[in-house]
Amino acid sequence: MNDVIQLLQSHRSIRKFTDQGIEQSVVEELIKAGQSAATSSFIQACTVIQVAKGERRDRLAELANNQAYVADAPVFLVFCADMHRHKVACEQHDAEMLSGFTEQFLTASVDVALFAQNVVVAAESLGLGICYIGALRNKIDAVADLLELPELVYPVFGLCLGYPAQDPEVKPRLPVSVVLKQEHYNEEGNSESLVGYDAHVNAYYRSRSETQKDLTWTGQIAGMLQKEARPHMLKFLKEKGFLLR
Ligand SMILES: Cc1cc2nc3c(=O)[nH]c(=O)nc-3n(C[C@H](O)[C@H](O)[C@H](O)COP(=O)(O)O)c2cc1C
Repeated sequence: MNDVIQLLQSHRSIRKFTDQGIEQSVVEELIKAGQSAATSSFIQACTVIQVAKGERRDRLAELANNQAYVADAPVFLVFCADMHRHKVACEQHDAEMLSGFTEQFLTASVDVALFAQNVVVAAESLGLGICYIGALRNKIDAVADLLELPELVYPVFGLCLGYPAQDPEVKPRLPVSVVLKQEHYNEEGNSESLVGYDAHVNAYYRSRSETQKDLTWTGQIAGMLQKEARPHMLKFLKEKGFLLR
């Protein structure tokens, strides 16, 4: 293994940060690293909104299920899928943009995820800690209003960044045999592997240094999937001009 792989395999989300700030020049370097990710058909469909500590950030924290680290993180970024500037580009060329395709929603969202993960890896390589914030989509209407997002832009997730004030254990991932299959989809060996994995995850949750729980992976997933998943999303995305066809 080399240092990059070691870094990737040492990732853990950080939810407590020291007061040490991050130079704006470093933030901009991280953004450039994000921009270097591959991008579908060169669409470059990611816009990042940096929100300083203060009233707007506090409101975002409130909208994101009151997660304290959203308000407290030295840097907070909102990653948006942005097809608005593509509309402007079309107008510049007197071309009517055919928008609203599910494929465009998918490619723009994938672009954002690739961009953001590059930012994350670059940040972690500098000793920073991060936590993605999907809870921004809990009240996505209010978040979009607060950030003044136009049509064809939606907030995919937020990202807290800062120097770690905690040192959590790495969370064990599924066995490779469950996620890597040869030639065709199959579930061979999965149930046996998941029994072992559940025990591994349970041992992790019971013994980790913060907020111990008695959970397994399959149990956690079964619990989560009893709840509706942000059912307001489709209406919101359609209103923003996505997922119309
Ligand atoms: C898109 C996305 C959204 C997430 N949203 C939240 C969130 O709102 N709050 C939070 O505390 N963690 C959030 N997480 C972090 C996950 O809970 C975490 O990555 C997962 O439990 C694995 O733990 P690890 O990152 O420490 O390995 C999010 C992660 C991703 C990728």
